[in-house]
Amino acid sequence: MGACLLIHGIASGQTSISMPGNLPVARPSKPITAASTTLRQAAQRALLMGSAATADEFSWVSDPLNNPAYAATLAAQYNMLSPENALKWPIVHPAQSAYNFEPADELVAFAQAHGMRIRGHNLCWYMDNPDWLTNFAQAASPFDMYQLLQKHITTVMSRYQGTIFAWDVVNEAVSDSATGIGTDLRDSLWYDQPGIGVTGTGYIEQAFRWAHAIDPNALLFYNDYGIEDSGPKFEAVYNMVQDFVSRGVPIQGVGFQMHIDPTGYPSSAGLTQNIRRIVALGLQVHITEMDVRLPVDANGNASAADLQAQAQTYQRILTVCLQTPGCTAFQTWEFSDAYSWIPRYFPGYGAALPFDGNYQPKPAFDAMMTTLTTAPRRLNNRSSAIGPSY
Ligand code: XIL
Repeated sequence: MGACLLIHGIASGQTSISMPGNLPVARPSKPITAASTTLRQAAQRALLMGSAATADEFSWVSDPLNNPAYAATLAAQYNMLSPENALKWPIVHPAQSAYNFEPADELVAFAQAHGMRIRGHNLCWYMDNPDWLTNFAQAASPFDMYQLLQKHITTVMSRYQGTIFAWDVVNEAVSDSATGIGTDLRDSLWYDQPGIGVTGTGYIEQAFRWAHAIDPNALLFYNDYGIEDSGPKFEAVYNMVQDFVSRGVPIQGVGFQMHIDPTGYPSSAGLTQNIRRIVALGLQVHITEMDVRLPVDANGNASAADLQAQAQTYQRILTVCLQTPGCTAFQTWEFSDAYSWIPRYFPGYGAALPFDGNYQPKPAFDAMMTTLTTAPRRLNNRSSAIGPSY
């Protein structure tokens, strides 16, 4: 364990990550009894069933892990957990010389107490960086940035070496307007503003090499959105990953975020083909952040018809993952509508997750359960490909 400085919450002014002020108070929900089959039980031997989760990283939100309905549902239904924000720079690295591992440690301890794997998210991202880092980058040389990123990856990964089995090493680096010829990257303080002094995808490669040096057993992922169906952005990611594999850069997987709505993206055929192409390179795919946003009324409620369409969408995507070898994990971005990021980032939308704000299973939950218990599937997907058992 590296030395750490514990700081609760984040400094005022660092508000790039926000949580809602008025979270619904959880009422005891229809109990999910010990006898009920849960998602994690139904998914066993097929894939890992995950959710993003939150601890006490925001001083203005009381710790969801202390909410019995949140904690019980998370532990009962999921066997993989990803800190939604606790490992991002503003929380884990709130000042240049300070690290705050307390919220991530709490999530790790929760996962370990309940036999869940921990998926790390993320080490290098163009956005949601703390003000001190944005300011630092304005005056820094590429070598300063190189040293800073190396130290961050080393410090954070060292703490969780042997604990976090898979990491999103680099998040959302590819441009939304990528042509699909080569790999067009988006502007970022790690790439070109000022960057770490390496051209092209070199900064991404370097991040993977640093990560691998710290935990050679961890599965290292590139994670992005808009790559779930065929198209130029997927081609750009594919080109980068293919190049990395051909040159022995340590990468084990690609994360498909899957922030979608029920209107048909991604097509099942496109998603299947994309997974197959990544797997053909010797890598695996995780669905990392699925939610299916719906239009909601002023109370946050969606129509019954939309909830059915949402259920079908969860069923469709989960079916593709189950039936396509190498899609080894299926994770939603939180599990209860009480904690979803969607209403804050997509005004007028919400109700995106399988449990409602009172932890009641929605039609989407039932559809996932039906899929897991009835869809033809590979039963031995949790083989060595799934990664180390920690
Ligand atoms: C989101 C969180 O859910 C929010 O709480 C936070 O304010 C911003 O980030 N893609 C990602 C995630 O990779 O890290 C983002 O999470 C959602 C989009």
